[in-house]
Amino acid sequence: MSEAASEAPVVDLEDIRSTDPARRAKAADALRVGFGDFGLVYIQNHGVDTDQLARFYDALVALFSRPEEEKRTWARPDIWYQRGWTPPNTEQAVVAGGQPDFKECYFAACEPLDSKFRLMFPEIYAENSWPKDADTWREDYLALGRKVHAVGMELLRACALALDLPEDVFSKGTEGGPHVTRALWYLPLDATQVGTDILWGEEHTDFNLLTLLPGGQFFDPSGKACPRPDAESGLYLRTRESAEHPRGRMVHGKPPAGCIVAQVGQQLEILTGGTYLATPHVIKAPKTPGYTRTAFAHFIHLHSEQKLFPHEKFLTDDAIRAYGPPVLAGTYGLKTLVDIGLAPKTALEKLGYHHYGRLAAARAG
Ligand SMILES: [Fe+2]
Repeated sequence: MSEAASEAPVVDLEDIRSTDPARRAKAADALRVGFGDFGLVYIQNHGVDTDQLARFYDALVALFSRPEEEKRTWARPDIWYQRGWTPPNTEQAVVAGGQPDFKECYFAACEPLDSKFRLMFPEIYAENSWPKDADTWREDYLALGRKVHAVGMELLRACALALDLPEDVFSKGTEGGPHVTRALWYLPLDATQVGTDILWGEEHTDFNLLTLLPGGQFFDPSGKACPRPDAESGLYLRTRESAEHPRGRMVHGKPPAGCIVAQVGQQLEILTGGTYLATPHVIKAPKTPGYTRTAFAHFIHLHSEQKLFPHEKFLTDDAIRAYGPPVLAGTYGLKTLVDIGLAPKTALEKLGYHHYGRLAAARAG
């Protein structure tokens, strides 16, 4: 990347699919720069139905505007909120200042899940649960999630080829994995909160393999869909550190209209020994009180039995130090859910150490 570049590149999905070597090479270059230096790319020609997405967001705001006591019936604290509604102030970024969490979410799985792993991780592989009277919203949710997942799989194959790796090196480890799709509503700040340090999303990196974000939608204080209320609000990301910028640069992510943002997660950074960067990112709230924003985020995960360790092509001493010792993706995910406050610390006791308890029970009996 030249130091002058201040915006992540656009990748045309039609270039990835093309038989023209020049078009495929152009997409590969964009993926290497985008995932390598910014940790994200913008995807165009992705085929996601923008009218369906707009309808989904309108229904999301209507649903989330219902009384809290009704929304509480959609919440599943028993499965660590991995399905259904998540109230505000439930989740925290791993490295955050402890500020209030200004969002509500809904979690659903749009892809088939591995039934064997449901036995080991019942919360993470749970069945979906839905509000009773939101059939169109549910069908839009599932259709959008599946479509965005398919885009992500194409991208995983392309970003493997861009590193001269076998095409399926990342995608083959995802089948049946605990992919989850979140519908998000970032909540309004009041007059005393705007212009302070309060953020809609504290700086963090995603812990999965690849995240796909079709464009979100702002809503004005009356609840009507509206354009971005000011130029500064929205997504900021921290680029890779360099000699000139040892802490990276905070860059305002400005996806061209209609593009999907595709973001590298920690799992993809680990597999590539840091060649692709899990970008730290932050969501800044508007400077005017009362505005809200919806978003749709699809998280592709490695299957829980996949090993998280750099591919042999990237297995340098530095990479081993940075990313070892190897951990299974299921263990890694469980630990992260504890770290962000969704799962209890006791969940870590379920990591396969069953013998001590059995022996103690036998001796006591
Ligand atoms: Fe994120």
